[in-house]
Amino acid sequence: MYGVIGQSGAGKSSLIRCVNLLERPTSGTVTVAGQDLTALAGRGPRAGKELRAARSRIGMVFQHFNLLSSRTVQANIELPLEILGLSGKERSRKALELLDLVGLSDKAKVYPAQLSGGQKQRVGIARALAGEPKVLLSDEATSALDPETTRSILELLRDLNRQLGLTVLLITHEMEVVKTVCDSAALMQRGRIVESGTVNELLATPGSQLASALFPVSGEATGADRTVVDVTFHGEAATQPVISQLSRTYNIDISILGAAMDTVAGKQVGRMRIELPGRFEENVVPIGFLREQGLQVDVAGDAPASIPAQDAPATAAALVKEGAK
Ligand SMILES: Nc1ncnc2c1ncn2[C@@H]1O[C@H](COP(=O)(O)OP(=O)(O)OP(=O)(O)O)[C@@H](O)[C@H]1O
Ligand SMILES: [Mg+2]
Repeated sequence: MYGVIGQSGAGKSSLIRCVNLLERPTSGTVTVAGQDLTALAGRGPRAGKELRAARSRIGMVFQHFNLLSSRTVQANIELPLEILGLSGKERSRKALELLDLVGLSDKAKVYPAQLSGGQKQRVGIARALAGEPKVLLSDEATSALDPETTRSILELLRDLNRQLGLTVLLITHEMEVVKTVCDSAALMQRGRIVESGTVNELLATPGSQLASALFPVSGEATGADRTVVDVTFHGEAATQPVISQLSRTYNIDISILGAAMDTVAGKQVGRMRIELPGRFEENVVPIGFLREQGLQVDVAGDAPASIPAQDAPATAAALVKEGAK
C-alpha cells in the first residue's frame, strides 16, 4: 500500500496516469511488475496488443466511480471482461465472484443510481479487479465519501492487498488515509517526489515533512532564547526516564510543550515536544545525549537538507491544505 500525497496541482494524477501509460512521458521509462511499458507500442485507443494486455493487469479506481448508469452492477463489472473476450457464462461467473469479494453479492441486478457512494466504489473496485491486476491505482477513491465509508473502503483495499498480494498505489490528500493503511508514502511538490520511503523510515527521518504531517505535535516556544525539540520514539520506548536523566545530567529545566501517542502504519509511535533553555548552539550536547539514547530528535527550525526552504510549507497542515477540495 503506497500513498502519494501532495498539494493540488503537484502532479499526483499525472503520475498515476503515467503508470498505466494513459499519459506517455516525454522521457524516462515506466516499469510495472518488472515490465517496461514505455517499450511497448501505441498510444491511447491505438495501443498495441501487448500494451493493452499490460494495462489490463493494472486496475484503476476513480473518485467519481465512473460507472455506466444504464448498466446493472453486474454488467458494469462484466464490461472489462467483454473487452478481454470472455464468454457470457465466464463473465457472469467472474462478475459474481468479484461482487462477493467486495461484499455486494446481493446487488448484482441493481443499477448504480440505487447504490450509496460506498457501494458504488465497491463496484468500481470489483470492476478494476476484473483483469486480475497486479497493481491497483486509486486516484482520490475515497474523497467523495464520508469518514466511516472511507474507512470501510480502505479496509477493503487493505484486505485485497493482503489476500490477493495486490499492490495499491493510492493518491490522496488526506494524511489520515496514509496513516491508516499505507506501508509506504511519497510526497510530491511541483511535479517531483521530494520525499519517499516506508512510513517507519519517514518517521525516523529528521526533518521529514511527511513524518510531521503524519504525526503532528503542537506547542509553541515560550521565549526567543529557547530550543524546541521534537522527540520521536517507537513502541515501548519510554521517554520519561530519559527526559529526567537529561534534566539531572545537565542541570537544566525541561518543559514538555506537547505529547501524543498514535498508531501509524500499524505501529505505536510516540512524539513529545520539549523545550530546553538557551539557543540551539547552547544545547548541542543535551541534544546529542538524547540521540545517543536512540531517540529520534528533530530541532524546530532546522531546515531539512533535501528540500529547498522556499518549497517547504510552513506547517504540516499547509502540506495538504490546498489538496482538500
Ligand atoms: N494533460 C495535461 N497536459 C498538460 N498539463 C497538464 C495535463 N494534466 C495536468 N496538467 C498540469 O499538470 C499539473 C499537475 O496536475 P495533476 O492533475 O497531476 O495534479 P494533482 O496533484 O493530481 O492535483 P489535484 O490534487 O488537484 O488532483 C497541473 O499544473 C496541471 O495543470
Ligand atoms: Mg489529481
